[in-house]
Amino acid sequence: MDTLIAQRTAADTAQNEDFLPLKGTDYIEFYVGNALQAAYFYQLAFGFRLVAYAGLETGLRDRCSYVVQQGKIRLVLTAPLTPDSPIAQHIARHGDGVKVLALWVDDAEKSFYETVKRGAILAQAPQTHSDEFGSITTASIHTYGDTLHTFVERGNYQGAFMPGFVARSSNLHTEPVGLQYVDHCVGNVELGTMNQWVKFYEDVMGFKLLITFDDKDISTEYTALMSKVVSNGNGYVKFPINEPAAGRKKSQIEEYIDFYRGAGVQHIAVATNDILHTVGELRKRGIEFLYVPDAYYEDLVARVGYIDESIEALRALNILVDKDDEGYLLQIFTKPVQDRPTVFYEIIQRKGAKSFGKGNFKALFESIEREQALRGTL
Ligand code: FE2
Repeated sequence: MDTLIAQRTAADTAQNEDFLPLKGTDYIEFYVGNALQAAYFYQLAFGFRLVAYAGLETGLRDRCSYVVQQGKIRLVLTAPLTPDSPIAQHIARHGDGVKVLALWVDDAEKSFYETVKRGAILAQAPQTHSDEFGSITTASIHTYGDTLHTFVERGNYQGAFMPGFVARSSNLHTEPVGLQYVDHCVGNVELGTMNQWVKFYEDVMGFKLLITFDDKDISTEYTALMSKVVSNGNGYVKFPINEPAAGRKKSQIEEYIDFYRGAGVQHIAVATNDILHTVGELRKRGIEFLYVPDAYYEDLVARVGYIDESIEALRALNILVDKDDEGYLLQIFTKPVQDRPTVFYEIIQRKGAKSFGKGNFKALFESIEREQALRGTL
Protein backbone atom coordinates (compact mmCIF):
# COMPACT_ATOMS: atom_id res chain seq x y z
CA MET A 1 0.00 0.00 0.00
CA ASP A 2 1.13 3.49 -0.63
CA THR A 3 1.12 6.56 1.50
CA LEU A 4 -1.32 9.27 0.63
CA ILE A 5 -4.32 7.61 -0.92
CA ALA A 6 -6.88 10.33 -0.78
CA GLN A 7 -6.80 13.99 0.05
CA ARG A 8 -9.96 15.93 -0.51
CA THR A 9 -10.81 19.48 0.28
CA ALA A 10 -13.83 21.00 1.88
CA ALA A 11 -14.74 22.39 -1.54
CA ASP A 12 -15.50 18.85 -2.70
CA THR A 13 -18.05 18.46 0.01
CA ALA A 14 -19.62 21.86 -0.40
CA GLN A 15 -20.85 20.81 -3.82
CA ASN A 16 -23.09 18.15 -2.30
CA GLU A 17 -25.60 19.14 0.29
CA ASP A 18 -24.32 18.36 3.79
CA PHE A 19 -27.05 16.35 5.56
CA LEU A 20 -25.21 16.70 8.87
CA PRO A 21 -23.90 20.26 9.17
CA LEU A 22 -21.76 20.49 12.32
CA LYS A 23 -20.74 23.72 14.01
CA GLY A 24 -17.95 22.08 15.99
CA THR A 25 -17.40 20.10 19.18
CA ASP A 26 -19.94 21.05 21.83
CA TYR A 27 -18.46 19.16 24.77
CA ILE A 28 -16.51 16.04 25.65
CA GLU A 29 -17.86 13.98 28.54
CA PHE A 30 -15.60 11.75 30.60
CA TYR A 31 -16.88 9.06 32.93
CA VAL A 32 -14.50 9.14 35.89
CA GLY A 33 -14.24 7.55 39.33
CA ASN A 34 -14.22 10.86 41.18
CA ALA A 35 -15.55 13.90 39.33
CA LEU A 36 -14.86 16.34 42.15
CA GLN A 37 -11.17 15.49 42.07
CA ALA A 38 -11.00 15.28 38.26
CA ALA A 39 -12.41 18.81 38.16
CA TYR A 40 -9.56 19.94 40.43
CA PHE A 41 -7.04 18.34 38.07
CA TYR A 42 -8.41 20.14 35.02
CA GLN A 43 -8.57 23.45 36.88
CA LEU A 44 -5.17 23.27 38.55
CA ALA A 45 -3.09 21.52 35.92
CA PHE A 46 -4.77 22.53 32.65
CA GLY A 47 -6.15 25.95 33.65
CA PHE A 48 -9.82 25.20 33.00
CA ARG A 49 -12.53 27.18 34.80
CA LEU A 50 -15.38 25.50 36.66
CA VAL A 51 -18.67 26.71 35.12
CA ALA A 52 -21.49 24.28 35.97
CA TYR A 53 -22.52 21.38 38.18
CA ALA A 54 -25.29 18.81 38.52
CA GLY A 55 -25.65 16.28 41.33
CA LEU A 56 -27.58 15.47 44.50
CA GLU A 57 -28.23 19.17 45.20
CA THR A 58 -29.85 19.59 41.79
CA GLY A 59 -32.05 16.52 42.10
CA LEU A 60 -29.84 13.80 40.56
CA ARG A 61 -29.60 10.63 42.65
CA ASP A 62 -27.24 8.41 40.66
CA ARG A 63 -24.51 10.71 39.35
CA CYS A 64 -22.79 14.07 39.55
CA SER A 65 -21.18 16.13 36.81
CA TYR A 66 -18.75 19.05 36.85
CA VAL A 67 -18.37 21.17 33.71
CA VAL A 68 -15.07 22.95 33.10
CA GLN A 69 -14.26 25.30 30.25
CA GLN A 70 -11.31 26.97 28.53
CA GLY A 71 -11.66 28.86 25.25
CA LYS A 72 -14.24 26.89 23.27
CA ILE A 73 -13.31 23.62 24.99
CA ARG A 74 -15.91 22.28 27.39
CA LEU A 75 -15.33 19.09 29.39
CA VAL A 76 -18.04 17.35 31.40
CA LEU A 77 -16.67 15.14 34.19
CA THR A 78 -19.28 12.66 35.38
CA ALA A 79 -19.02 10.15 38.24
CA PRO A 80 -21.48 7.54 39.54
CA LEU A 81 -23.05 7.78 42.99
CA THR A 82 -24.29 4.18 43.07
CA PRO A 83 -22.49 0.91 42.30
CA ASP A 84 -25.18 -0.42 39.97
CA SER A 85 -25.37 2.61 37.65
CA PRO A 86 -24.28 2.20 34.02
CA ILE A 87 -21.63 4.84 34.74
CA ALA A 88 -20.09 2.67 37.47
CA GLN A 89 -20.14 -0.31 35.09
CA HIS A 90 -18.49 1.81 32.39
CA ILE A 91 -15.69 2.78 34.76
CA ALA A 92 -15.26 -0.77 36.06
CA ARG A 93 -14.70 -1.91 32.50
CA HIS A 94 -12.87 0.98 30.86
CA GLY A 95 -11.38 2.99 33.71
CA ASP A 96 -11.70 6.76 33.39
CA GLY A 97 -12.39 7.54 29.75
CA VAL A 98 -14.37 9.46 27.16
CA LYS A 99 -18.06 8.54 26.99
CA VAL A 100 -19.43 11.28 24.72
CA LEU A 101 -18.03 13.32 21.84
CA ALA A 102 -20.84 15.89 21.59
CA LEU A 103 -21.38 17.77 18.35
CA TRP A 104 -22.88 21.23 18.09
CA VAL A 105 -25.72 21.38 15.55
CA ASP A 106 -28.56 23.68 14.52
CA ASP A 107 -31.12 20.86 14.49
CA ALA A 108 -30.58 17.90 16.81
CA GLU A 109 -33.73 16.09 15.73
CA LYS A 110 -32.81 16.27 12.03
CA SER A 111 -29.21 15.22 12.81
CA PHE A 112 -30.56 12.24 14.70
CA TYR A 113 -33.02 11.12 12.02
CA GLU A 114 -30.59 11.67 9.13
CA THR A 115 -27.96 9.49 10.82
CA VAL A 116 -30.32 6.81 12.16
CA LYS A 117 -31.88 6.60 8.68
CA ARG A 118 -28.40 5.80 7.37
CA GLY A 119 -27.74 3.09 9.95
CA ALA A 120 -26.68 4.81 13.18
CA ILE A 121 -27.66 2.91 16.33
CA LEU A 122 -29.91 4.90 18.63
CA ALA A 123 -28.62 5.73 22.10
CA GLN A 124 -31.08 8.49 23.09
CA ALA A 125 -34.02 9.77 21.05
CA PRO A 126 -34.35 13.56 20.79
CA GLN A 127 -35.31 15.26 24.07
CA THR A 128 -35.87 18.93 24.77
CA HIS A 129 -35.21 20.32 28.25
CA SER A 130 -36.00 23.85 29.34
CA ASP A 131 -35.26 26.15 32.26
CA GLU A 132 -35.41 29.90 32.82
CA PHE A 133 -32.44 30.38 30.43
CA GLY A 134 -34.05 28.70 27.41
CA SER A 135 -34.15 25.19 26.04
CA ILE A 136 -31.72 22.68 24.57
CA THR A 137 -32.47 19.63 22.44
CA THR A 138 -30.12 16.63 22.50
CA ALA A 139 -30.07 13.20 20.84
CA SER A 140 -27.39 10.49 20.86
CA ILE A 141 -26.09 7.73 18.60
CA HIS A 142 -23.47 5.05 19.15
CA THR A 143 -20.01 5.09 17.60
CA TYR A 144 -16.99 2.79 18.25
CA GLY A 145 -16.84 0.84 21.52
CA ASP A 146 -19.12 2.26 24.21
CA THR A 147 -18.58 5.81 22.93
CA LEU A 148 -21.50 8.05 21.93
CA HIS A 149 -22.03 11.08 19.72
CA THR A 150 -24.57 13.46 21.19
CA PHE A 151 -26.07 16.13 18.93
CA VAL A 152 -26.58 19.34 20.88
CA GLU A 153 -28.93 22.06 19.64
CA ARG A 154 -28.43 25.12 21.82
CA GLY A 155 -30.69 27.64 20.06
CA ASN A 156 -30.16 30.82 22.06
CA TYR A 157 -29.77 29.07 25.41
CA GLN A 158 -28.25 31.50 27.93
CA GLY A 159 -27.51 29.24 30.92
CA ALA A 160 -24.16 27.97 32.21
CA PHE A 161 -24.31 24.65 30.34
CA MET A 162 -27.73 23.00 29.93
CA PRO A 163 -31.02 22.64 31.78
CA GLY A 164 -30.44 20.39 34.80
CA PHE A 165 -27.11 22.06 35.58
CA VAL A 166 -26.54 25.05 37.81
CA ALA A 167 -23.83 27.67 37.32
CA ARG A 168 -20.94 26.97 39.64
CA SER A 169 -17.60 28.65 40.13
CA SER A 170 -14.65 27.87 42.33
CA ASN A 171 -12.38 29.80 44.67
CA LEU A 172 -9.43 28.11 43.02
CA HIS A 173 -7.29 30.71 41.37
CA THR A 174 -5.86 29.31 38.15
CA GLU A 175 -4.94 31.14 34.99
CA PRO A 176 -5.89 29.62 31.63
CA VAL A 177 -2.93 28.20 29.67
CA GLY A 178 -4.16 29.36 26.25
CA LEU A 179 -6.12 26.32 25.08
CA GLN A 180 -8.56 27.43 22.39
CA TYR A 181 -10.59 24.66 20.77
CA VAL A 182 -10.68 20.93 20.02
CA ASP A 183 -8.62 20.32 16.87
CA HIS A 184 -9.32 16.59 16.49
CA CYS A 185 -10.28 13.52 18.54
CA VAL A 186 -8.66 10.17 17.79
CA GLY A 187 -10.27 6.76 18.23
CA ASN A 188 -8.49 3.44 18.66
CA VAL A 189 -10.43 0.49 17.24
CA GLU A 190 -9.81 -3.26 17.22
CA LEU A 191 -7.65 -5.01 14.63
CA GLY A 192 -9.42 -5.25 11.29
CA THR A 193 -12.21 -2.77 12.10
CA MET A 194 -10.73 0.58 11.00
CA ASN A 195 -12.30 0.48 7.55
CA GLN A 196 -15.71 -0.35 8.91
CA TRP A 197 -15.57 2.72 11.19
CA VAL A 198 -14.33 4.92 8.34
CA LYS A 199 -17.32 3.68 6.36
CA PHE A 200 -19.60 4.50 9.30
CA TYR A 201 -18.39 8.11 9.31
CA GLU A 202 -18.68 8.32 5.52
CA ASP A 203 -22.08 6.65 5.07
CA VAL A 204 -23.86 7.51 8.30
CA MET A 205 -22.41 10.94 9.11
CA GLY A 206 -21.44 12.22 5.64
CA PHE A 207 -17.76 12.65 6.54
CA LYS A 208 -15.01 12.41 3.91
CA LEU A 209 -11.80 10.43 4.06
CA LEU A 210 -9.05 13.01 4.34
CA ILE A 211 -5.81 11.06 4.75
CA THR A 212 -4.65 7.45 4.97
CA PHE A 213 -1.52 6.34 6.82
CA ASP A 214 -0.44 2.74 6.53
CA ASP A 215 2.08 0.70 8.48
CA LYS A 216 4.90 1.99 6.24
CA ASP A 217 4.21 5.49 7.54
CA ILE A 218 3.65 4.56 11.17
CA SER A 219 6.10 1.90 12.21
CA THR A 220 9.24 1.53 14.25
CA GLU A 221 11.57 -1.40 14.66
CA TYR A 222 9.01 -3.04 16.95
CA THR A 223 5.47 -1.87 16.40
CA ALA A 224 3.12 -0.53 13.75
CA LEU A 225 -0.31 0.95 13.33
CA MET A 226 -2.60 2.16 10.58
CA SER A 227 -4.70 5.28 10.61
CA LYS A 228 -7.33 7.03 8.50
CA VAL A 229 -8.57 10.55 9.11
CA VAL A 230 -12.20 11.47 8.41
CA SER A 231 -13.53 15.02 8.44
CA ASN A 232 -16.96 16.62 8.23
CA GLY A 233 -17.82 19.00 5.39
CA ASN A 234 -16.54 22.26 6.87
CA GLY A 235 -13.50 20.59 8.49
CA TYR A 236 -14.48 21.65 12.02
CA VAL A 237 -14.72 18.04 13.17
CA LYS A 238 -11.91 15.61 12.40
CA PHE A 239 -11.69 12.05 13.67
CA PRO A 240 -8.56 10.02 12.97
CA ILE A 241 -9.21 6.27 13.51
CA ASN A 242 -6.29 3.98 14.43
CA GLU A 243 -6.00 0.22 14.33
CA PRO A 244 -3.02 -1.92 15.32
CA ALA A 245 -0.84 -3.48 12.61
CA ALA A 246 1.43 -6.50 12.83
CA GLY A 247 4.82 -5.81 14.42
CA ARG A 248 7.47 -7.66 16.39
CA LYS A 249 6.08 -6.38 19.69
CA LYS A 250 2.78 -5.14 21.08
CA SER A 251 1.74 -1.80 19.59
CA GLN A 252 0.51 1.14 21.63
CA ILE A 253 -2.93 0.59 20.09
CA GLU A 254 -3.08 -2.98 21.39
CA GLU A 255 -1.91 -1.76 24.79
CA TYR A 256 -4.75 0.78 24.78
CA ILE A 257 -7.35 -1.78 23.71
CA ASP A 258 -6.14 -4.26 26.35
CA PHE A 259 -6.45 -1.71 29.14
CA TYR A 260 -9.56 0.09 27.86
CA ARG A 261 -11.15 -3.30 27.15
CA GLY A 262 -12.15 -2.32 23.66
CA ALA A 263 -12.31 0.59 21.26
CA GLY A 264 -12.39 4.13 22.60
CA VAL A 265 -11.02 7.65 22.42
CA GLN A 266 -7.20 7.61 22.44
CA HIS A 267 -6.37 11.30 22.42
CA ILE A 268 -7.90 14.72 22.24
CA ALA A 269 -5.89 17.36 20.38
CA VAL A 270 -6.43 20.86 21.72
CA ALA A 271 -5.23 23.94 19.86
CA THR A 272 -3.28 26.90 21.20
CA ASN A 273 -2.04 30.11 19.58
CA ASP A 274 1.17 30.05 21.59
CA ILE A 275 2.47 26.57 22.25
CA LEU A 276 5.64 27.79 23.99
CA HIS A 277 3.54 29.58 26.59
CA THR A 278 0.97 26.79 26.90
CA VAL A 279 3.47 23.96 27.30
CA GLY A 280 5.70 26.01 29.61
CA GLU A 281 2.71 26.60 31.89
CA LEU A 282 1.50 23.00 31.72
CA ARG A 283 4.96 21.74 32.67
CA LYS A 284 5.11 24.13 35.63
CA ARG A 285 1.76 22.76 36.77
CA GLY A 286 2.97 19.19 36.68
CA ILE A 287 1.69 17.86 33.36
CA GLU A 288 4.09 15.24 32.00
CA PHE A 289 4.84 14.86 28.31
CA LEU A 290 6.33 12.22 26.07
CA TYR A 291 10.04 12.70 25.64
CA VAL A 292 12.00 12.77 22.38
CA PRO A 293 15.81 12.64 22.46
CA ASP A 294 17.93 15.74 21.77
CA ALA A 295 19.01 14.26 18.44
CA TYR A 296 15.51 15.10 17.14
CA TYR A 297 16.46 18.80 17.10
CA GLU A 298 19.78 18.38 15.30
CA ASP A 299 18.33 18.13 11.81
CA LEU A 300 15.11 20.02 12.52
CA VAL A 301 15.90 23.11 10.42
CA ALA A 302 17.05 20.92 7.52
CA ARG A 303 13.77 19.00 7.75
CA VAL A 304 11.21 21.79 8.24
CA GLY A 305 13.04 24.92 7.02
CA TYR A 306 12.73 28.35 8.64
CA ILE A 307 10.25 28.64 11.49
CA ASP A 308 9.30 31.61 13.69
CA GLU A 309 10.15 29.88 16.98
CA SER A 310 13.61 29.47 18.44
CA ILE A 311 14.83 25.88 18.11
CA GLU A 312 16.41 26.21 21.56
CA ALA A 313 13.08 27.17 23.11
CA LEU A 314 11.36 24.24 21.40
CA ARG A 315 14.12 21.89 22.49
CA ALA A 316 13.87 23.09 26.09
CA LEU A 317 10.17 22.18 26.15
CA ASN A 318 10.57 19.13 23.89
CA ILE A 319 8.02 20.45 21.36
CA LEU A 320 7.91 18.73 17.95
CA VAL A 321 7.62 20.37 14.52
CA ASP A 322 6.35 19.07 11.19
CA LYS A 323 5.52 20.67 7.87
CA ASP A 324 3.29 20.04 4.88
CA ASP A 325 2.61 21.89 1.64
CA GLU A 326 0.60 24.59 3.39
CA GLY A 327 2.80 25.43 6.35
CA TYR A 328 4.01 23.88 9.57
CA LEU A 329 2.67 22.76 12.91
CA LEU A 330 4.03 22.43 16.42
CA GLN A 331 2.83 19.62 18.67
CA ILE A 332 3.48 17.68 21.86
CA PHE A 333 1.76 14.77 23.57
CA THR A 334 1.05 14.28 27.27
CA LYS A 335 1.47 10.99 29.04
CA PRO A 336 -1.84 9.26 29.84
CA VAL A 337 -3.95 11.38 32.22
CA GLN A 338 -5.42 8.54 34.29
CA ASP A 339 -4.08 5.37 35.88
CA ARG A 340 -4.58 3.09 32.89
CA PRO A 341 -2.37 3.79 29.82
CA THR A 342 -5.32 4.98 27.76
CA VAL A 343 -6.45 8.58 27.11
CA PHE A 344 -3.93 11.39 26.61
CA TYR A 345 -3.85 14.91 25.17
CA GLU A 346 -2.06 16.49 22.25
CA ILE A 347 -1.29 20.21 22.35
CA ILE A 348 -1.09 21.59 18.80
CA GLN A 349 -0.38 24.95 17.20
CA ARG A 350 -1.05 25.15 13.49
CA LYS A 351 0.88 27.63 11.38
CA GLY A 352 -0.71 26.89 8.05
CA ALA A 353 -0.30 23.10 8.14
CA LYS A 354 -3.52 21.10 8.04
CA SER A 355 -1.89 17.71 8.57
CA PHE A 356 -1.22 15.65 11.69
CA GLY A 357 2.54 15.49 12.15
CA LYS A 358 3.47 12.50 10.01
CA GLY A 359 7.14 13.54 10.14
CA ASN A 360 7.06 13.04 13.91
CA PHE A 361 5.38 9.64 13.98
CA LYS A 362 8.58 7.63 14.23
CA ALA A 363 10.11 9.73 17.03
CA LEU A 364 6.81 9.69 18.87
CA PHE A 365 6.17 6.00 18.62
CA GLU A 366 9.69 5.25 19.80
CA SER A 367 8.96 7.52 22.73
CA ILE A 368 5.70 5.67 23.51
CA GLU A 369 7.55 2.36 23.28
CA ARG A 370 10.01 3.55 25.93
CA GLU A 371 7.00 4.22 28.17
CA GLN A 372 5.47 0.84 27.29
CA ALA A 373 8.75 -0.89 28.18
CA LEU A 374 8.63 0.79 31.61
CA ARG A 375 5.05 -0.43 32.04
CA GLY A 376 5.97 -3.95 30.96
CA THR A 377 3.46 -3.83 28.09
CA LEU A 378 5.70 -3.71 25.01
FE1 FE2 B 1 -3.37 13.88 16.99
